[in-house]
This record gives sequence, C-alpha cells and structure tokens, in this order.
Amino acid sequence: MQRDSSPVEIRDGQGDDDMRHFAEVDAESFAGHAAANMRWLAAAAPHATLRLACMEGDVVGGYLLLPVGQFFGGRPVQAQAVTAVAVHPAWRRRGVAGALMRDCVAVARDHGSALAPLHAATVRLYRRWGWEVCSQTLRQTVRTAALSGLSGSGRVRAKPDRGAIETMRRAHVGRWDGPLDRPDWFLSVEWDPGEAETPRFEYGWYEGDRLTGYVRYESERQAGGWIRLRVQEFIWTTLDALGGLLGFLGGQESQSTDVVFVHSAIVDASPLQWLLPEPHRDTELSGFLCWMQRIVDIDAAMTARGWPLRASGRIELEVTDPVTGVDRLVLEVERGAARVTPGGSGAIRCGVGAFSAWYSSAMRAQDAARLGLLEGDASAVGTMDGLIAGGLPWMPDFF
Ligand SMILES: CC(C)(COP(=O)(O)OP(=O)(O)OC[C@H]1O[C@@H](n2cnc3c(N)ncnc32)[C@H](O)[C@@H]1OP(=O)(O)O)[C@@H](O)C(=O)NCCC(=O)NCCS
Repeated sequence: MQRDSSPVEIRDGQGDDDMRHFAEVDAESFAGHAAANMRWLAAAAPHATLRLACMEGDVVGGYLLLPVGQFFGGRPVQAQAVTAVAVHPAWRRRGVAGALMRDCVAVARDHGSALAPLHAATVRLYRRWGWEVCSQTLRQTVRTAALSGLSGSGRVRAKPDRGAIETMRRAHVGRWDGPLDRPDWFLSVEWDPGEAETPRFEYGWYEGDRLTGYVRYESERQAGGWIRLRVQEFIWTTLDALGGLLGFLGGQESQSTDVVFVHSAIVDASPLQWLLPEPHRDTELSGFLCWMQRIVDIDAAMTARGWPLRASGRIELEVTDPVTGVDRLVLEVERGAARVTPGGSGAIRCGVGAFSAWYSSAMRAQDAARLGLLEGDASAVGTMDGLIAGGLPWMPDFF
C-alpha cells in the first residue's frame, strides 16, 4: 500500500478535457470503454454535476450527480442521484473516495436537495460516510415459457413517446417509497448512450390510445445458446398492461429460455407470485447491488415528503452525521405534514444512515434498535414507527 500526504483537490469538471480524463478513470474502474463513457458523459453534461478529484495536477477520480425527484409518502422530494463514483486504481486506499463522498454531501445540499440515493458496489465505503442500505436490488428470473399464456386487452407499440412514459410513470410510482421522479431527459442519459452491440428494445402497452404500460429490455445471445432478455424497466398501471406485456415477453419463448427482471425492475413483492400458477418453480431470485439512501438536509427531507394522514406524533432526535456532526431536532407530524425545529432532548439517538433507511420505509425504528443502530425508549421508538407505517420501499431505477 502506498502512503503519501498529497492533498486532494475536488472541483467541478468542465469541458471536454476533464470529461475525457474522467471517462478514462471510469473505464479502467468499471472495465468499460472510454468512448462509451464519453457518449454517456456528453449526454449527461447539460443536466448533471461532474465533480473531480485531482492530485498532483492529475484527475484521479470523481463522481456524477443527476438532479431528480424521489417519491416518499406520495410526494417527490428533491434529490441528487449519485453515480459513477470511481478512483483510478493507482490512487486508491488513500482516502480519495472518502473526500469525494464528503464533497457529495455538501454539493447535493448546496443544490437544494434533501437526499442522495445511490447503488453501491461496496457498502463499506458509503456506510462510513452516512449512507445506509435500504435493500439489495433483486434479479427476478422467470422461465419465458411460464409467461407465454398471459394476455391482456390492448396492444404493444414500439418506442413510445418519452414524455408520455415519464408522465405515466410519475402518476403511478408515487405509491412506493423510493422510486425516482425522473425528469423527461432521464432515459436519454441512462439508456440511449448504451453499448450499440447489445440489441435493445422499448415497447408501450396501449389500451386504445392510452399508454398503460412500458417495457424496456436488452436481448442477449448467450454463448452457444439461447437468448436471455434482460428487462431494465417494467411499468404496468392496469391488469391488462401487466398480462399483455408479460405475454408479449413470453412470445419470445422459442429462442429465449428466461427473462431476467434486473435491478428490481419488478417490485420485490412480485406480481409474478400471484399471477403464475407455480411461481416457486418458474422463478428464481438473486440479489445484486444495494440501494443505499442518505439524507443530506434533514429539514428539507422531512418537510418535502408526504406523511400518512392518520400519522400524528412528536419525536425528539439526536442524529449523528459523519460529515456534518451531531444535530438535535424535534420532528412533529400532523395531518400529512411535518415540522422540524432545532433542539429537544435527543430521546432517540441514531446515525444519519439508520435515520435515512427508516425515512425510506426500509427499516423500522424498532428493528434498528434491535440491531444496535438506534437508541431510545420503547414508546418513543413506537411513535417513530407510527409516523411512516404502511410505506413500501422500492427502487426500480438504475443509475
Ligand atoms: C470503491 C472506490 C471508489 C474506493 O476508492 P478509494 O479512493 O480507494 O477509497 P478510500 O481510500 O476512501 O477507502 C478505501 C479504503 O482505504 C482505506 N484508506 C483510506 N485512506 C487511507 C490511507 N491514507 N492509508 C491506508 N488506507 C486508507 C479506507 O479506510 C478504506 O478501507 P476499507 O477497505 O476498510 O473500506 C475504488 O476502489 C473504485 O473506484 N473502485 C472501482 C469502481 C467502483 O466499484 N466504484 C463504486 C461504485 S458504487
């Protein structure tokens, strides 16, 4: 392991040279191609914030922030989706990524955001800087033939209008805690610049002229064998769209043995369990990257989200943040809205990571207490859980 005391400078990435240097760091870090990264960075540039770590005049790492919303309690909360965190192999294990994550908290907050979600290849790094796991994204693999008998009223049409997809999605995914409220440019950054060699398809489900579902997938020929469909997104707003789109995928059974819904593209409490006659024989689940969540501005996070109308209560918290320090606050929720005031007794004590997982409906306060991630007496913990009871976490968006 090398040790030195060169300072890390973190600054905005600007212009083609910066982008090219970061594209190279990123390619080496993720075993990708710099040219593909450049396409992606160029598409993101008008919308995203690129932050670079420099040492001795070289770009040695960086990350990207995508401004999005994130649904909690039915309302979109302003967020910066963190992506492409990378440090060049020659500059690792000297704290560069730590410096980037501390910078990320400050920058996201300066941009007026309350939250900074990410997908973690390494949980350790992010947990150290205040993120916490909400769930492991699931891959649900289903035998293509098990879908071929399903159907719905309506028809598929290729390449539905992007604005229409986002509008349909926005009206639909707010019933879970965690999905992104995506800007209309989202797919032009996250999907369009992808590898040209992999065939990729988008279809809408239409009932009359109404778009009621959407599927987006890659079709991958496996070495010496069958096609595997990798579904990146699957939105169904009616039962006809669900049966119709699944039956459409099932129609590929002559060439394809299985359909993989990657990155929790289908909600983890999967409709396949209730739709298929033998779900346990025809589907298989496996975990992949972790969805981690972090609050970067507690006041904004609490006041922007929705709260169940029946929730009412007051908790006094002491939240420890590895970047910003210890904060005491009183959270009062009533009639669907929250108020945060500084101070209070700190009757509930937790880290900002556990607080963020609780906020996301991913971890009950009582379970955090049992895991040693939160302290407080049972009645305060019960009140805390009562405030968001009923939320179901889901992160269908990969970025
Ligand atoms: C993950 C990644 C960004 C970490 O970058 P990094 O700059 O090496 O990270 P840090 O130096 O902050 O922390 C790494 C480790 O070095 C340790 N470390 C930090 N400063 C140190 C120092 N001066 N001396 C010795 N060790 C040090 C940290 O404690 C940490 O230890 P851990 O292994 O117990 O977690 C980098 O490995 C990478 O780019 N990987 C490939 C891409 C990737 O997976 N990105 C994450 C996608 S979500």
